[in-house]
Amino acid sequence: MTGRPETRERLLLMHDWIDIAAVEDCPPGTSIERVAGDRMVAVANVAGEFHVIDGLCPHQGGPLGTGTLCGTVLTCPWHGWQFDVTTGKHRYSATVRQQQYEVRRESGRLLVRLPATEAGGRQA
Ligand code: FES
Repeated sequence: MTGRPETRERLLLMHDWIDIAAVEDCPPGTSIERVAGDRMVAVANVAGEFHVIDGLCPHQGGPLGTGTLCGTVLTCPWHGWQFDVTTGKHRYSATVRQQQYEVRRESGRLLVRLPATEAGGRQA
């Protein structure tokens, strides 16, 4: 025994979708901050299409979801780092990239799926 969830539990976690918001919580051209599992995520609505990236800015941990969305570019409210929400890439640095998460709509809700290791807690 390793203390980690057994295979069946891990497989179930892999397929879990986490309800994070109502669709109307994030109108087109805006972004919001939400918690999904043990993560803070930034949800962005680009012309009706939703994108979800890691919500902690890699600069100093700023809350990306509370930043400003202009087109596909989300600007961190603390010091202005910018990310393309469709790719997770920093606008000017090729080496900085936010993790992206799958998102879908269901019955007026937004659901996000985290990788199995994050849905059940981070691996050591
Ligand atoms: S914490 Fe985001 S730009 Fe500094």
